[in-house]
Amino acid sequence: MKFTAALVSLSLLLAGSADAAHISNLKLLKNQHVRYGLNHRRGASATWAPTSTYTETQTATATASSSSSAPSSTSSSSSSAFSSGIKRGLSFNDASLTDQFTSSEVSWAYNWASSYSGSLPSGVQYIPMLWGSSSSFTSVWNANAEAAIQNGAEYLFGPNEPDLDTQANLSPAEAASLWQEYMEPFAGKAKLIAPAVTNGAAPMGEAWLTDFVSACTGCTIDGYAMHIYDSATNIAYYKEYISNFTQTFQKPVWVTEFGATGSDSDVQTFLGEMVTFLNDLDGVAAYAWFMVESGNLVNSDGSFTTLADTYIN
Ligand SMILES: *[C@@H]1O[C@H](CO)[C@@H](O)[C@H](O)[C@H]1NC(C)=O
Repeated sequence: MKFTAALVSLSLLLAGSADAAHISNLKLLKNQHVRYGLNHRRGASATWAPTSTYTETQTATATASSSSSAPSSTSSSSSSAFSSGIKRGLSFNDASLTDQFTSSEVSWAYNWASSYSGSLPSGVQYIPMLWGSSSSFTSVWNANAEAAIQNGAEYLFGPNEPDLDTQANLSPAEAASLWQEYMEPFAGKAKLIAPAVTNGAAPMGEAWLTDFVSACTGCTIDGYAMHIYDSATNIAYYKEYISNFTQTFQKPVWVTEFGATGSDSDVQTFLGEMVTFLNDLDGVAAYAWFMVESGNLVNSDGSFTTLADTYIN
């Protein structure tokens, strides 16, 4: 309950500031998402406590993976969405800031839109997103998705945070009809990844997505996407939430945004541990830290920060 209230107040904070339907405001929204959202969500995490079920599951998983031939510290995995085996990706607004990354570090990139200007590093797959239902997105979607597929995109993303009223803001039924009209025609041409939900309590998160799946008659859903934010010291919560999510939906899961609040050193420790966890968890097909921007993964000239070094190692 506390968690829901926190997210509602996040929505109220964001509601007056910008029209979420315009990509030009997205960076602003996302920055606010981090600035305000994490602080709100952090309050909620105090109510969370680990469950014994989780501990048993993790022990079993760890035993199974340590007996497989691949070392658990490997950065490539057979459960990756990509033939490189690398699950790691980039979320960006400015493609020029991605140019120090290579395809041996990241397999994919997205920018919450269906096209981008500039260029991505060679061999890094661009994945277009149908962000929401407004005509600014739908009118360009078919041509942009087609062009991206021609250019090597193997996946298409559904709407961004439909469960938040400051983001795509769609009911499960609205998202289902959007999907049937704009996503489903691409079934078989690319793999279709469900709308990316947040780690909010019902009716957000898993609850929203479960209703979407029921509403989306005849829909081809090849994978599921989720976002998660909390405190860097609450890593057990992230692991449990993501593990639960993979078990609920039983198809490849894309963690297309994750971030954390805390001191620089807590965030470094968090990211290093999360990368190992996400690489090793078979239900996870891909992940992207939020985000490639100056002062986060990169400096203003695109050079790596120590956080990027942690991310790619
Ligand atoms: C994970 O699932 C279990 C079992 O349904 C539940 O008790 C627990 O609260 C969930 N954990 C998180 C972090 O959502």
